Amino acid sequence: THPYETILVERTGRTATLTLNRPKALNALNLQVMTEVVAATEELDRDPDIGCIIITGSAKAFAAGADIKEMRPQSYMDMYLSDWFTAWDRLGALRTPTVAAVAGHALGGGCELAMLCDILLAADTAVFGQPEIKLGVIPGIGGSQRLTRAVGKAKAMELCLTGRTMDATEAERAGLVSRVVPAADLLTEARTVAGQVAAMSAPVAMMAKEAVNRAFETTLAEGVRFERRLFHAVFATADQKEGMTAFVEKRAAEFSHR
Ligand code: CAA
Repeated sequence: THPYETILVERTGRTATLTLNRPKALNALNLQVMTEVVAATEELDRDPDIGCIIITGSAKAFAAGADIKEMRPQSYMDMYLSDWFTAWDRLGALRTPTVAAVAGHALGGGCELAMLCDILLAADTAVFGQPEIKLGVIPGIGGSQRLTRAVGKAKAMELCLTGRTMDATEAERAGLVSRVVPAADLLTEARTVAGQVAAMSAPVAMMAKEAVNRAFETTLAEGVRFERRLFHAVFATADQKEGMTAFVEKRAAEFSHR
């Protein structure tokens, strides 16, 4: 029995794929979607048999934003007391690496959801933007911060102030996405990338993710120091011995995720 109504979760080997599934609303992210995505990914994060999580949507929309109809009547006190959207932060706090596979609209909360993931793959049909200003609001799931870190002030400011969108080519040029692939190949590519990550030592992949993410939170000297400490720590893993032994023995490494 599938406990979720707005998402589908599927496992293939050490990879899990979470598909947003509210087609009638172009995967608009209402509170139920948020609750289900967070619950499902946290469960996968705790599962030692899962090494990478893909988040994707449909061919038409990764997600067309937070749910405008749900937000429209809310008051300041409603938003403040329920701490609206704060649960999304837990997605960024997962230790398991995540891949956003984006086709079609990734607007507002959709763009922010993609930016909460670790690797961002775009189909050539993907469209990114933070059009909240056109609705009389601003981004609320970190868009003003993560887009600025990803593409710099010039483009982030223009996108947030005018609501203009960018296509996949511009998003790749600006550094928002790691790669653009033909729409028909998006899921295959995402599964290949996720499979590669999931085959690595899980604890070492977690540390690599933690080290890269630290770059957004600290000075260069402190970040390098943090990396150095984690680098020393990986020598406590069995997988360091396996990885380096496999290299010397000219065979593929078989990590035990310990
Ligand atoms: N919230 C709620 N419903 C949405 C939605 C959203 N963000 N986006 C689309 N839908 C609904 C539409 O209302 C429509 O429903 P009905 O059939 O009941 O009218 C259905 O999905 C299909 O949408 P369209 O008919 O508009 O489809 P389209 O192909 O003509 O246009 C689109 C696609 C350009 C993406 C257009 O739907 C659109 O502009 N959507 C809103 C984009 C947006 O402003 N996103 C930001 C939301 S605010 C936010 O995200 C805040 C934050 O930072 C967290």
